[in-house]
Amino acid sequence: MDGELKQFIDDRRYSLIDQKHPDYNRFPKYYTSHRFEILLRPGERVFIPSKWWHFVQSEDPDPDTGLNVAINFWYQSKDPRPARFGWHNLNVNEIIDIVKKQESLMVSRSPLGYFPPGQFAHKYNNKIKIESLTYDEFISTKNHELYITQNYIEELNKFSPWPENSNVRSQVWINFGNCFTIPHWDGEDNWLCQLQGNRRVIIAPNDETSNLYPMNPYPDRLLETIERQMTSCPYIHFNNDDISESVIREISEAIGTQSEVHIECDDLSAAFARHMSHFNIILEQNGVGFNVLRPTKRCSLFHIKKFKKGDKFLTPEPNLLVSIIWALTPVELNIKGKNHRIKPGGAILYPNSWLFPVVILEDCMTATPFKDEDSQ
Ligand SMILES: [Fe+2]
Repeated sequence: MDGELKQFIDDRRYSLIDQKHPDYNRFPKYYTSHRFEILLRPGERVFIPSKWWHFVQSEDPDPDTGLNVAINFWYQSKDPRPARFGWHNLNVNEIIDIVKKQESLMVSRSPLGYFPPGQFAHKYNNKIKIESLTYDEFISTKNHELYITQNYIEELNKFSPWPENSNVRSQVWINFGNCFTIPHWDGEDNWLCQLQGNRRVIIAPNDETSNLYPMNPYPDRLLETIERQMTSCPYIHFNNDDISESVIREISEAIGTQSEVHIECDDLSAAFARHMSHFNIILEQNGVGFNVLRPTKRCSLFHIKKFKKGDKFLTPEPNLLVSIIWALTPVELNIKGKNHRIKPGGAILYPNSWLFPVVILEDCMTATPFKDEDSQ
């Protein structure tokens, strides 16, 4: 799946709250959410079920080593129970010895005082960087802007709380104290085990999502549907050809020499309804209406536009989730360096998270649904 789209879908997992003490005026609903807070000390662990929000703050480091160390294990255990506290008997030295042996460790660098994931670098003026260091290099820096966040060290899987299962993945977390990650949820269950220093974890069940300001607030089911549809392609490309030549002729005459007009056309409306029907069903099942994608039903009024070779367009309406461009004549366009051809009657449905222009390669004529009959 295309990077931007993947990021757009993934944004539902992260909160806009990037402060240790969320600003009441900006995030008032956070203070009404049902959540609990736990301070983990060495030898203690917490179970965070998949999709539960968590906000993790490494607080004091260990007074002897100067480090705050944890390890977590991910696994889709299907354990239906809620978050809970527990103990572990992992040996920190054994774990550190394995970490020390690694030729390079993934290290996040953030001067922000908190650690959003590296894939968000563009949202934070590229201040977050991912680096590779050895354990000794990391230790010698004593730099609070650095955080080892290394996953997939296979040898650590022997410490798994699910020893019978080979699909468990571990991740080690080592910093010099006072680091925190923005609230988010993960797709798997998680046993988070504290090894050195103290770690505060604030946890909220997934049904508190609306109080936690996700970066992408659209309904989960809709996003999952879009994700499924777009797995192999960064946009949905319908390639029907059910607009008759006579309809195109009629529209061409109506538009004349103008570059764009709004027109009503029953034949176009009927063709469009056929075209969209399968996607409409999905949207209806998800209870998603005009605010996200239009039209969700029939469309009677269309914005017809003639593009000239070399024209560029950006997402037309950033308040909508998805835009659609329908080809009335053959359309050839370039999306991020790749050329795509759409037959008359075909359509491209693309996410409005795209921030780059789409370039038109040949003169063409397109229709964009302008008014949904259900719209207000
Ligand atoms: Fe997490």
